[in-house]
Amino acid sequence: MEPPPIHLDNAATSHPKPPGVAEAVARHLTEIGASPGRGGYVGTVQSQAVVDRLRSRLRRLCNAPGSDERMLFTLNGTDALNLAIRGLAMPKLLRGEPVRVVATDLEHNSVIRPFRTLETLGAEVVFVPLDPHTGAANPNQFAEALGPETTLCAAIHGSNVTGAVQPLAEFGAAAKANHVPFLVDASQTLGRIPVDVEAMQIDMLAFSGHKYLLGPLGTGGLWVRDHLNLMPLRDGGTGSMSELESQPECWPDRFEPGSHNTTGLFGLDAALEWIETQSIETLATRERDLHLKMANCIEATPGLHRLGPKAPTLGTFALQHDEYDSATFAAILDSQFHLHLRAGLHCAPRIHRQLNSDTTGGAVRLSLGATTPLDAVDRLAEALQAISKQELGV
Ligand SMILES: Cc1ncc(COP(=O)(O)O)c(C=O)c1O
Repeated sequence: MEPPPIHLDNAATSHPKPPGVAEAVARHLTEIGASPGRGGYVGTVQSQAVVDRLRSRLRRLCNAPGSDERMLFTLNGTDALNLAIRGLAMPKLLRGEPVRVVATDLEHNSVIRPFRTLETLGAEVVFVPLDPHTGAANPNQFAEALGPETTLCAAIHGSNVTGAVQPLAEFGAAAKANHVPFLVDASQTLGRIPVDVEAMQIDMLAFSGHKYLLGPLGTGGLWVRDHLNLMPLRDGGTGSMSELESQPECWPDRFEPGSHNTTGLFGLDAALEWIETQSIETLATRERDLHLKMANCIEATPGLHRLGPKAPTLGTFALQHDEYDSATFAAILDSQFHLHLRAGLHCAPRIHRQLNSDTTGGAVRLSLGATTPLDAVDRLAEALQAISKQELGV
């Protein structure tokens, strides 16, 4: 009998979801079936209560001060980053004022591409290079890139390629000293390791709901500190103040036109409840143990190389094999061993360029998650041994 498949691509989206998530999704679909803020009948009220509770859970998780209204739901992590970047920069560009935006070479295309779009509109774009010793951007260089004329600085918290974790508290201190709003992409870290917007002096926190927050696809969010204002990227019905023909001013309605993915948010709420019960510290320790075992297994395999820093904090590995290109290696792991990993550039071309993997088909990424089965290490070890001995059924 074939062994069950193991999902080792949690950096793309987490799988399997923890207990309670599928049930919450089904509950919304089969029992509730209503949209929050759209009417006053029982289903809308129940939906609103879950969505409100989720805003609070998310705010608590990242230690965000102020009111829940500043925790916005978005379509996904990409949408959150676009809202933060364009929402802050576009009013200045429209007024003909200079815009300068700074980020690091570790960023995902959901930061790089909005930056490049701003560049076509006249903005200056700066990327702080990766320090090969740490795998992260150097905080001194990050600070040097900032100045009074900088509109926004952004940093990914944990790399979706190498797992390197950036020194956000140091970046945040530099941003604060220069009076530059600090945006963090926590898509790979929120729900996985502690994220504290106060300690890290973060002004906007963007995240995906379906990765380490363990919710369904099509969920994400952006927390915005209360002194910042943004331009909405979309206008439309909010279920509130329908007499107004222009977008309401109040938060979160101003930034949440259109019906929510309420079914997905029910799932995300259940996932957050599970994370709260487990605690981030417990989940991080479990992943760390699995990560160290995986790292030993990878290191012991001749011909297999891990790119990037030796000891990143996250259980995300970028691998290259001497014998196989990345696409072939991932295909063998899938077809012969039922291990699901992702080959390529992982929507992060700048870090691959710095790792010299951009011209060689990228890398095969192995990313652990909160629900990765413990026997994943043994399954990987067996697969790597068989590949080394050329015991392939091809
Ligand atoms: C670091 C990082 N940022 C942003 C995103 C975009 O998230 P989403 O897929 O929810 O749009 C991803 C997803 O791959 C990511 O890994």
